[in-house]
Amino acid sequence: MKGIILAGGTGSRLGPMTAAISKQLLPVGDKPMIFYPLSVLMLSGIREVLIISLPRDVPLFRQLLGDGSQFGIHLDYAEQPHPNGLAEAFLIGEEHIGDDSVALVLGDNVFHGPGFQRVLEKHSTAVKGCVLFGYRVSDPERYGVGELDDTGRLLSLEEKPARPRSDLAVTGLYFYDNDVVDIARRVRPSARGELEITDVNRAYLERGLAKMVDLGRGFAWLDTGTPEALLEASQYVRTLEQRQDVGIACLEEVALRMGFIDTEACLAAGRRYGNSRYGRYVMEIARELRD
Ligand code: G1P
Repeated sequence: MKGIILAGGTGSRLGPMTAAISKQLLPVGDKPMIFYPLSVLMLSGIREVLIISLPRDVPLFRQLLGDGSQFGIHLDYAEQPHPNGLAEAFLIGEEHIGDDSVALVLGDNVFHGPGFQRVLEKHSTAVKGCVLFGYRVSDPERYGVGELDDTGRLLSLEEKPARPRSDLAVTGLYFYDNDVVDIARRVRPSARGELEITDVNRAYLERGLAKMVDLGRGFAWLDTGTPEALLEASQYVRTLEQRQDVGIACLEEVALRMGFIDTEACLAAGRRYGNSRYGRYVMEIARELRD
């Protein structure tokens, strides 16, 4: 399976913080936001990832993450010059996807919860159709919304409905089979002129090939869209990291635990970050797993 991170958009609700820099490079806790979605793809076992962003920001992502070899993965970059919608990612990424299945994750989505890796592993293998991940929220009208029947079958999907049929938001993580490229090509722009991801997902639903996994209670899917939400996300990460001395979305740790890099590479990476908590943590993990 290939991975795509869509990190475009102007982040206008976060101005002036986003006046000169991509939203997805702003800090959440002690690391850039994009570390979180990238860790989700890596935990799914994905090692080839395309990062799509504005022409202005691609050089910055490249500077931050390079070719991915320090994480034992391969990173490529592509531009989305205009806000033509999330589904454009499959057209921009067509060559990257090739004849493989693909996971799309939005660059501003922060996921965290126990057992998440198992959920990702289970649903990323042999994808037939599409797999969506639902999360119950108090304000579903702000999101794509899915409706499940008593048996967990997906009945409907709507984009930001005024009167939501359920409180199950569609999160920004999507697994697809290879048909997604064809489907995205046939999607017509919505009223706001965008290729909507919900229209792609609906095409799968009509074929009876869309499924939604409820991430459940106690899981964290955090918003980063406003200054307040960003601060709350940072506090969530900081609280857990300090209390338990764990790293959330520490890419070197994920790479090491997934077997993408060895302890020596992990140590070297930690040294490069210098005297930061993140750097010390990376080295600590490397030593712990080596001994
Ligand atoms: C997009 C999708 C929406 C989804 C959300 C998740 O909305 O269109 O269906 O629920 O991402 O983050 P946007 O954030 O672009 O408004």
